[in-house]
Amino acid sequence: MSSSRQVTSQQPQPAGKLFQFKLVLLGESAVGKSSLVLRFVKDQFDDYRESTIGAAFLTQTICLDDATTVKFEIWDTAGQERYKSLAPMYYRNANCAVVVYDITQSSSLDKAKSWVKELQRQADPNIVIALAGNKSDLSARRVVETEEAQAYADEAGLLFFETSAKTATNVKELFTCIAKKMPLDMLANPRPRGTGLNARGVDLNRDTKESGCAC
Ligand code: GTP
Ligand code: MG
Repeated sequence: MSSSRQVTSQQPQPAGKLFQFKLVLLGESAVGKSSLVLRFVKDQFDDYRESTIGAAFLTQTICLDDATTVKFEIWDTAGQERYKSLAPMYYRNANCAVVVYDITQSSSLDKAKSWVKELQRQADPNIVIALAGNKSDLSARRVVETEEAQAYADEAGLLFFETSAKTATNVKELFTCIAKKMPLDMLANPRPRGTGLNARGVDLNRDTKESGCAC
């Protein structure tokens, strides 16, 4: 006769506060937006990824320290031109954005700059924007120099990382840096979602939902 045993998770619940932010990824098709998200959320990479249709939604959590956890609600938008008109729906109320280009395609940096302009004109004025030069593993095919992109990012007030979804270089660093830039002192005056800055500070012990922790 077989017997079964119920195994209950012994993992300790993290203490402290959970802050939740809406993050949107924008950029030309095939620059690697979905691949960056897949690396960040599942630590995986596909050599052959299907182009995104509409948008995809994922979540991931980062523990900044024992008392502070940031949960990103991530909207991975489709870069194909035919989906461009949908973008405002995803960047509206976004707290942060990752605008991605491909270091081997100079036109993708031009496209990234136009997304940054649109965000700066039309998104929440407090939005934190990061520029990600992806595919840094393809350095032999590089056409966008690091210094050029860094200078642009400095001038436009953006965080800047060169990343590789393939090798995982700087992917966690990118999202962690964004998390640290978010207004975590909002906890003193947390607001309900959908109003103002749209940040939420909640007790982790009362809100332990899905998604792993990238810590
Ligand atoms: P859309 O959904 O059409 O907007 O494209 P996307 O920006 O989401 O690009 P996606 O993540 O689908 O990646 C496009 C292609 O680039 C895929 O074949 C990926 O395997 C490849 N790719 C993504 N990131 C990297 C990277 O860091 N290095 C290399 N070498 N290839 C990458
Ligand atoms: Mg995609």
